[in-house]
Amino acid sequence: MSHGTTQSIMFVYILYLLLSSLWPCLVFQQLVVGMTLQAQQTALLNWKGTLGSSPAIISWQQQVHPCNWTGIMCDHGSVAVTGISLSNAGLDGNLDGLNFSALPYLDYIDLSFNYLHGEIPASISSLAVLSYLDFTSNRMSGNIPYSIGNLQSLTTLGLSMNNLTGQIPVSLVNLTKLTQLVIHQTMLSGRIPEEIGKLTNLELLQLSNSSLTGHIPPSAGNLTKLNSLRLYSNQLSGSIPSTLSNLIDLQDIQVGVNHLSGPIPGFLVNLTKLDRVLLYKNQFTGVIPREIGMLSNLTRLELADNLLSGSIPPSIGNLIGLVFLDLSNNQFVSNIPEEIGNLVNLITLNLYGTQISGPVPATLGNMINLRYLRMFDNQLSGPLPPEFGNLTDMIYLSLINNFMVGLLPSDVCRGRQLEYFNVAGNMFNGSIPASLRRCKSLQQGT
Ligand SMILES: *[C@@H]1O[C@H](CO)[C@@H](O)[C@H](O)[C@H]1NC(C)=O
Ligand SMILES: *[C@@H]1O[C@H](CO)[C@@H](O)[C@H](O)[C@H]1NC(C)=O
Ligand SMILES: *[C@@H]1O[C@H](CO)[C@@H](O)[C@H](O)[C@H]1NC(C)=O
Ligand SMILES: *[C@@H]1O[C@H](CO)[C@@H](O)[C@H](O)[C@H]1NC(C)=O
Ligand SMILES: *[C@@H]1O[C@H](CO)[C@@H](O)[C@H](O)[C@H]1NC(C)=O
Ligand SMILES: *[C@@H]1O[C@H](CO)[C@@H](O)[C@H](O)[C@H]1NC(C)=O
Ligand SMILES: *[C@@H]1O[C@H](CO)[C@@H](O)[C@H](O)[C@H]1NC(C)=O
Ligand SMILES: *[C@@H]1O[C@H](CO)[C@@H](O)[C@H](O)[C@H]1NC(C)=O
Ligand SMILES: *[C@@H]1O[C@H](CO)[C@@H](O)[C@H](O)[C@H]1NC(C)=O
Ligand SMILES: *[C@@H]1O[C@H](CO)[C@@H](O)[C@H](O)[C@H]1NC(C)=O
Repeated sequence: MSHGTTQSIMFVYILYLLLSSLWPCLVFQQLVVGMTLQAQQTALLNWKGTLGSSPAIISWQQQVHPCNWTGIMCDHGSVAVTGISLSNAGLDGNLDGLNFSALPYLDYIDLSFNYLHGEIPASISSLAVLSYLDFTSNRMSGNIPYSIGNLQSLTTLGLSMNNLTGQIPVSLVNLTKLTQLVIHQTMLSGRIPEEIGKLTNLELLQLSNSSLTGHIPPSAGNLTKLNSLRLYSNQLSGSIPSTLSNLIDLQDIQVGVNHLSGPIPGFLVNLTKLDRVLLYKNQFTGVIPREIGMLSNLTRLELADNLLSGSIPPSIGNLIGLVFLDLSNNQFVSNIPEEIGNLVNLITLNLYGTQISGPVPATLGNMINLRYLRMFDNQLSGPLPPEFGNLTDMIYLSLINNFMVGLLPSDVCRGRQLEYFNVAGNMFNGSIPASLRRCKSLQQGT
């Protein structure tokens, strides 16, 4: 097949396409570029030549129309290569051999889950209409090129799980159309750009499991469309900036495993769309805000491994959507509030390693979905209420090292799911209930 039809015909066709199409503002740019399909095809074939043999792109042949190649997307007139979609295609090689300036119509690149190595070429910045770029899970190394800030049309950028080093280039804050920025599990270090707040269209900001330092930039409070803020597993320090109180659409805040300090901000209770609040493994101090119960959509609340004190607020019982609650390894001094028994959807309750004392409330027997209960290393006293026998989904129960007394509930294995039951280091007396001795689901040695 010949792609050498006259360029002028193609220009007219592209003009028609563009005038009738989605990107009127880009007409000028595209016409000026005016790349032939043949040149685009050549660029792709040249790149193929630098990759190890990959069965996924066997259809990339000179004689086959490139718009019919696996993983290649074209415009409707089949004159412009607009997308490369080759996730998990076994591609092994680098991007140096890909001539981006011959592919000016690309608006979509998904090369996630391959074996691409080498650096992200600075020349990628020539892709003026690129809106989607995903290099997740490859072996790319080196810095993120400063020129990435020229990809003015980008709405989605995914660079997770690569060996990227250096800092996040400040030029990134010029990509103001971004709605998703996800850079998880890299070797990036340095600070989050102070002006990240310029990315006002962001809905998902994830810069996690890398080596980022410094504070959470206050300008992040300008990201008012944000649904998810995930900065977990870095070395961020300082407190959560008060400006984040503007993020009224926030559903998900995950900043666990950092060196964050200061209080759990009271304004969180006003962000009523919050579904997940994950602040574990930091150095947060002070109390859990009393009004936490206002977050009625919360399903996960993880505050473990901090320096929190005071009492567990009874309003926590209003969070009836909770499925996972972890307050372990803090310095609470109160009782377990009875209201906690309202959490009928809770599957996991971790309350170990705190100073909580007093009885285990019988209301816990109402939490009919509870499977994992870890309350070891506390100062709980009194008996284990017979209502525990009602928790028929229970799989794991540890009350080690408390001051509990009395008889064990006769029917603690009623649901026949129990795999782990450990109440050592207490002052229970009487004999081991028959139901526990007959509990077949229990694993040996527990
Ligand atoms: C793609 O292949 C199909 C059938 O295999 C063919 O009908 C069609 O013309 C080809 N498209 C182009 C643009 O060559
Ligand atoms: C890349 O493509 C452009 C446009 O076709 C061409 O001018 C240039 O020479 C190519 N560069 C390389 C290194 O092939
Ligand atoms: C990533 O970097 C680490 C540490 O430098 C190195 O051990 C590892 O081999 C690198 N992985 C790849 C795929 O380059
Ligand atoms: C952002 O874009 C503006 C205008 O194009 C430019 O002047 C500025 O240098 C860019 N900033 C960064 C950090 O790249
Ligand atoms: C973080 O990255 C390391 C590898 O660098 C990986 O082993 C670990 O599972 C990751 N942790 C999370 C929470 O993603
Ligand atoms: C962004 O946030 C900073 C710090 O909170 C503030 O000073 C600035 O005025 C905000 N910029 C815009 C454009 O809203
Ligand atoms: C929550 O919002 C209310 C009403 O908008 C406001 O009066 C209050 O100060 C806010 N609370 C916090 C802790 O920001
Ligand atoms: C809570 O979640 C439900 C269902 O997901 C949703 O309809 C509702 O608007 C949410 N409430 C708030 C305050 O966001
Ligand atoms: C829960 O347990 C108590 C005591 O064992 C029992 O009296 C009560 O009927 C149970 N409630 C339900 C709903 O099973
Ligand atoms: C078990 O302990 C309770 C309270 O500590 C006590 O009243 C009871 O007599 C003890 N029972 C036995 C069999 O030791």
